Amino acid sequence: MDKRLFFSATQRNKDCIGDVLSQIIKNNGSILEIGSGSGEHGVAFQKRFPEIIWQTSDPDLMHRKSIISWIEYEELNKKMPQPLDLDVENIPWKIPLNLAHSLQGIVSINMIHVAKWNCTVSLFKGAGKLLKKGQFLILYGPFKIGNKHTSQSNYLFENSLKLQNNLWGIRDLKKVTNAAKKNYFFQENIIMMPANNFIIIYRKISY
Ligand SMILES: C[S@@+](CC[C@H](N)C(=O)[O-])C[C@H]1O[C@@H](n2cnc3c(N)ncnc32)[C@H](O)[C@@H]1O
Repeated sequence: MDKRLFFSATQRNKDCIGDVLSQIIKNNGSILEIGSGSGEHGVAFQKRFPEIIWQTSDPDLMHRKSIISWIEYEELNKKMPQPLDLDVENIPWKIPLNLAHSLQGIVSINMIHVAKWNCTVSLFKGAGKLLKKGQFLILYGPFKIGNKHTSQSNYLFENSLKLQNNLWGIRDLKKVTNAAKKNYFFQENIIMMPANNFIIIYRKISY
């Protein structure tokens, strides 16, 4: 049965995120995506970067079913592995050995503001244990800069998030980067993206 979910923001941002990724990722190995949601990014990036293996993951069963449906719909079954049931708070993450050995980096899109703060901390802890020196962790989403929203729309968006769950919220970039540093990631680049979003590239500086 077709269990595909459709996230409107995901359809809007997949091309511009893919443009940035195309400058960073190499044409071999695999990428682990954390909090893949519907799977629309996963299949889009697998098609855009056919030389690599795009490994999706999500702790939400409905999302994993959607990812499976998207993989089937796009006829990528032979190329893409099934989504992992991965919650960043369950450290150490259970990752297939072949994935761990072939990883070039981790990507997480619009996850950390739709989860409690400890998920950001855990994301860097788990990634820090998995990734090796020189490998990347890329975040996409809205951030506060200097503890301030970068737009009125982000302020309104955060209010709507907090109505759903008071522990969710747009994170301050400095606080996120401090969590990164504690796990030996340095902030390599900040890229402004459409609709008041950013891509933050973190690079592991030690083993
Ligand atoms: C707003 S959705 C974004 C989905 C997708 N990345 C996108 O941009 O379309 C946030 C995703 O983060 C996942 N998520 C929430 N808490 C998580 C956790 N503790 N570990 C991993 N993923 C989590 C949710 O299940 C959801 O799929």
